[in-house]
Amino acid sequence: MSQPETSLMNRIVSLSKRRGFVYPASEIYGGLNGFWDFGPLGVQLKNNLRDAWWRSMVECPPIGPDGKPLSILGIDTSIIQHPKTWEASGHIGGFSDPMQTCRQCKKLFRADHVEDMLRDAEWVVSFADAMKVAAAETLKLGAFLQDSVTFDGAAAQNWAQRKGKRLAPGLALVRNSTVTLSWLDEDMRNNPSGKLSFMDLLNYMATEQKAKTGLQTPCPNCGGDLTEPRQFNLMFESRVGAVEADDDSGKVYLRPETAQGIFLQYKNVLDTSRVRPPFGIAQVGKSFRNEVTPRNFIFRTREFEQMEMEFFVPPEDGMKWYEFWVAERLRWWEEQGVSKETLFRHEIPDADRSFYSSATSDIEYRYPFTAPGFGELEGVAYRTDYDLKQHQTFSKTNLEYIDQENSRRYLPHVIEPASGLTRGVLVLLCEAYQYDESRASPEWLKLKPSLAPIKAGIFPLVNKDGMPEVAEKLYLDLRRTHTCQYDAKQSIGKRYARMDEAGTPFCITIDGDTLKDQNVTIRNRDTAQQERVALDQVKNYLATKLA
Ligand code: GAP
Repeated sequence: MSQPETSLMNRIVSLSKRRGFVYPASEIYGGLNGFWDFGPLGVQLKNNLRDAWWRSMVECPPIGPDGKPLSILGIDTSIIQHPKTWEASGHIGGFSDPMQTCRQCKKLFRADHVEDMLRDAEWVVSFADAMKVAAAETLKLGAFLQDSVTFDGAAAQNWAQRKGKRLAPGLALVRNSTVTLSWLDEDMRNNPSGKLSFMDLLNYMATEQKAKTGLQTPCPNCGGDLTEPRQFNLMFESRVGAVEADDDSGKVYLRPETAQGIFLQYKNVLDTSRVRPPFGIAQVGKSFRNEVTPRNFIFRTREFEQMEMEFFVPPEDGMKWYEFWVAERLRWWEEQGVSKETLFRHEIPDADRSFYSSATSDIEYRYPFTAPGFGELEGVAYRTDYDLKQHQTFSKTNLEYIDQENSRRYLPHVIEPASGLTRGVLVLLCEAYQYDESRASPEWLKLKPSLAPIKAGIFPLVNKDGMPEVAEKLYLDLRRTHTCQYDAKQSIGKRYARMDEAGTPFCITIDGDTLKDQNVTIRNRDTAQQERVALDQVKNYLATKLA
């Protein structure tokens, strides 16, 4: 099947906008980096994913290893909590990213994202082309920064004077090519192979004062000089009450994760419900992080939604429950229609884990912008008793569980499956996106039927001869149990195409024969096959197919 020129990710973003899944926030004012709005189809899809999660966590939790259903309770806590919360949790001291600023264009970058951004930067691809690094081909493999390259000084200078001036005005090679090239020349005399990696070459081209500064990695935006990395706190600040702007007494933070609200209320839940460890508390809600480099559509945004569950267990059972939840969460994402091949369990090595965590696995997905690699979708962390211990110390409130049966008291250990709801919507869109030129709408979404924003389109074949009346009656009946859409405009082919783009699994057509035999035609989105179903059986048909 031939594929269009535009990249897969760009096509998903543009379908999302065109069909009302996701719009840039504040678009009429030029947008706001890191913020997105969900349109009519998007909010429905997001709510369906949220409801599926809530149902599988709170209303019908999984069966535990002992064959009995787990106890998990729901909660909804404030976005703004007492500021001490974030001191205790470590977010005020430690929730920061290393940042670099460009001295020329003043843009900020997350230090650990610079190499990735260079790979995609227009000026780098153009420079690679001038140096005859197979940029276009290797870009697909995501590896060309490591490619080894034979340097051609004349081609570099030529590029600097033409394309470089426009694309990378901050690059040392463009600002002062003689000095930059002389560093390279001197060093290459000691390099018998005459080859260096393309990344090394970029570093030379960014470096004017090598003796003073060492080699510099260039700014992905303009090629300029980046400052040393500095820590930058990711929490958004606000103020409570009528306080002066320079008075810190009313300073509060928008929560960067929903988890801490759960820890603060753990004791109340324990005291007011009939649960005992092992048990969980689940929450869905907005979180805010002033991300340095929000990117990749709704993958990393500054305002997003999370679905988090803290599972409180006796300390000695921590690892057992950790393994249980990793397996359970992988299974759950597959149940939502995400294929096994696109999911990956990434066990975080000891050195990269938070100091308080005994084990963490990321559940990763193969996004179009990470392929063939994977990126995080959900984290499952064994957080030990770190959070409860911290809040116990900072609040001076005893948070221990009193186990009367075994005459002991302890701080439960916690296993936390934490996933992004908005990031989950991105995964559903990426996974569902299909391209098939032989269909009326080459682009269509193969969403799991129960998650689709619209479950059925209801059409009179023509807008006359008694068909609209029957179709409207059916619509009024079905909409009480399923999200349906009545559509009588344009040709039937165009109506199918619109529903395919929205990911609607079934289209029900009332035609001339319906009036005679009381049967309707139901078209299946995935197979485009049609079948005749009795009008009075349509409700049952949908109930069975959407279960
Ligand atoms: N309570 C633990 C916690 O918040 P995290 O790995 O930082 O852990 C959990 O976040 C999930 O939240 C991530 O796996 C991701 O799906 C989502 N998430 C985190 N930051 C995000 C962002 N800036 N934009 C969208 N989703 C984000």
